[in-house]
Amino acid sequence: MKSGLSSPRKTARKTPQKTTPNTAPQTVPLSVPLAVPLLDLRRQYDGIREDVLVAIARVCDSQSFILGPEVEALEREIAALTGAACAVGCASGTEALWLALVAAGVKPGDSVITTAFSFFASASAIVRAGATPVFVDVDPGTLNLDAAAVGRRLRTKRPENLRAILPVHLYGQCADMDAFDRIVKENAKEFEVAIVEDAAQAIGAEWNGRGAGSLGVTAAFSFYPTKNLSAYGDAGIVTTSRPEMAEHMRRLRNHGSPRRYYHDEFGWNGRMDAIQAAVLRVKLAHIADWNQRRRQHAATYDRLFANSGLTANHGSDESAAPVRLLSRSPQAKHVFHQYVIRTQRRDELRKFLTERKIGSEIYYPLPLHLQPVFSYLGLKAGDLPVCEQAAREVLALPMFPELTEAEIRLVVESIADFYA
Ligand SMILES: Cc1ncc(COP(=O)(O)O)c(C=O)c1O
Repeated sequence: MKSGLSSPRKTARKTPQKTTPNTAPQTVPLSVPLAVPLLDLRRQYDGIREDVLVAIARVCDSQSFILGPEVEALEREIAALTGAACAVGCASGTEALWLALVAAGVKPGDSVITTAFSFFASASAIVRAGATPVFVDVDPGTLNLDAAAVGRRLRTKRPENLRAILPVHLYGQCADMDAFDRIVKENAKEFEVAIVEDAAQAIGAEWNGRGAGSLGVTAAFSFYPTKNLSAYGDAGIVTTSRPEMAEHMRRLRNHGSPRRYYHDEFGWNGRMDAIQAAVLRVKLAHIADWNQRRRQHAATYDRLFANSGLTANHGSDESAAPVRLLSRSPQAKHVFHQYVIRTQRRDELRKFLTERKIGSEIYYPLPLHLQPVFSYLGLKAGDLPVCEQAAREVLALPMFPELTEAEIRLVVESIADFYA
């Protein structure tokens, strides 16, 4: 495999040498990294430390720790960012999914169609709402829930009491929301189905210029510490443009209670801490810039992979290339929560990268329909072949705003070395 790239690891170890008259002097390029983490939150903290500490002190001074003005301010700011009319802060992305589903009308005995290629919570929240997840395969290009496969499923074997479809905006790229809207409209006379977005990985993402979080009836975001917009602990938020659903979610996150010590329905303690809201508000001021930097890093990865000959060039057989990139939908503004490649020698490559101290991760190694906890659904290996193959091939590479071009080069050069 033509690498087309020099090896910075070797260069970095070189010590200055005596040169012959025709040889350029060797220098030690100190900017060349010797290891690349998958994510380095410390670099982000270094840039915002003072503001974060002031925000946390503000909450401590107020001695108001749960919900309250910080959470309300964050709710307004997230609503403005996403374009949804309302946002409801809560304890985690998982909690947000449960609130979004219940507010959208999902109840015990219902079915909800979703992808089997996501984090566990996308499906466990459906179960917690009392409903049955119906797993459908993913699009082979984007690995998002395949709207065409959902359409086929509705025509051939519509799940009983289907109440919602839950697409996940995987890795920060919106699922095909035009196609899901069409499904809702085409079937409107026969049955009603709500689109609930799992936007946990997609804060700031867009579809046709509209923000993730404003594309479905309700949407759930996670602020887990590794997310593009992340708290200093667990936190999440739900968005909707239907005020009555927002009010319902406000009650549900607080024991189903419309006023203190009066309970009309069962809810839980799903409230957001004020300290998390205060930290998130500091970071929110940077999210557009951070997402833009992620897009630039993705473009750098794309370019270096193309130059290295690892990915297929135009006209050549893409499926034969050692490294394949995921498709990008032209309607989507991607926020690259993850930069993911596909390769048949994934596990060997990962071991090689780990030995070179380059971080990587597999999102996700076992599709949801094959998780032991979902065996009661009766699905088996081979039932959802596209996501099963993806689970064998995907590898997420280092991606965070403060990543440097030298680090990206080292990652791509190391992958080229592996295939050399
Ligand atoms: C797609 C997806 N859905 C749901 C969640 C759950 O979010 P949380 O970890 O904040 O509960 C996550 C994140 O972990 C996720 O990536």
